[in-house]
Amino acid sequence: MAAYGGETHERIPAHVAIIMDGNGRWAKKRLLPRSAGHRAGVKRMVKLAEHAFDSGVKVLTLYALSVENLHRPQEELQGLFSLIREYFSGDTEKIAARGVALRVIGEIGLLPEDVARLIEEGIKKGGDGSGGTLVFAIAYGARQEIVRAVNRAVAAGKEVTEAQFCEFLDTAGLPDPDLLIRTGRERRLSNFLLFQSAYTEFYFSDKLFPDFSNRDLDAAFASYAARERRFGRIK
Ligand code: IPE
Ligand code: IPE
Ligand code: MG
Repeated sequence: MAAYGGETHERIPAHVAIIMDGNGRWAKKRLLPRSAGHRAGVKRMVKLAEHAFDSGVKVLTLYALSVENLHRPQEELQGLFSLIREYFSGDTEKIAARGVALRVIGEIGLLPEDVARLIEEGIKKGGDGSGGTLVFAIAYGARQEIVRAVNRAVAAGKEVTEAQFCEFLDTAGLPDPDLLIRTGRERRLSNFLLFQSAYTEFYFSDKLFPDFSNRDLDAAFASYAARERRFGRIK
């Protein structure tokens, strides 16, 4: 990929990251409980992931739960944990059958033990990576991730280069995101991939996540394809 010098780049971003926001408002608009919005969000997420890999995306990172989300009311959290349990107990099979490897970033140790275990078991049942990599950010916070990485570097006992530091991040071995999409009208990162998104292209959609269709993803790809990435350089 010709990434530098303002040259053309691949039309389809290799690594797409999505902040899946707006489930609660989607449910509220329909006078449904927030949990119904999260359930609709998972359904949409499954379809979007298939479409992304069909389109040629190599890595898809999905922000499913932030560390800060763990301060939401117990009732909502229990609903979210149930959805995570359901998803990782079987729904991963279809995407794994397409050769998509599964991975998680974040501190899943902060989750109830059985939820963390189901995630770990589900991840192991992922594909060999020939079809891409699906990364779930669960109990994830970028600042916390950076601090963890710093502590790992300190424990290693020597100064690190930028490349070596990246290996201490939860995203070790993954390329930086090329395109970061946030649904749900907000224009902020909410503690997502702060280090990795230094030169990422941003795309904000006003659609609430359960309404963000495969066509909306195509529109994000089209927007990305029309951009010139300069990485601080000039032509
Ligand atoms: C995103 O939807 C999913 C999670 C944060 C788990 P929200 O639950 O934040 O939905 P809104 O922003 O309240 O609509
Ligand atoms: C970001 O959305 C986290 C996820 C989508 C998982 P939030 O709804 O938590 O973000 P804020 O609170 O609006 O910044
Ligand atoms: Mg939100």
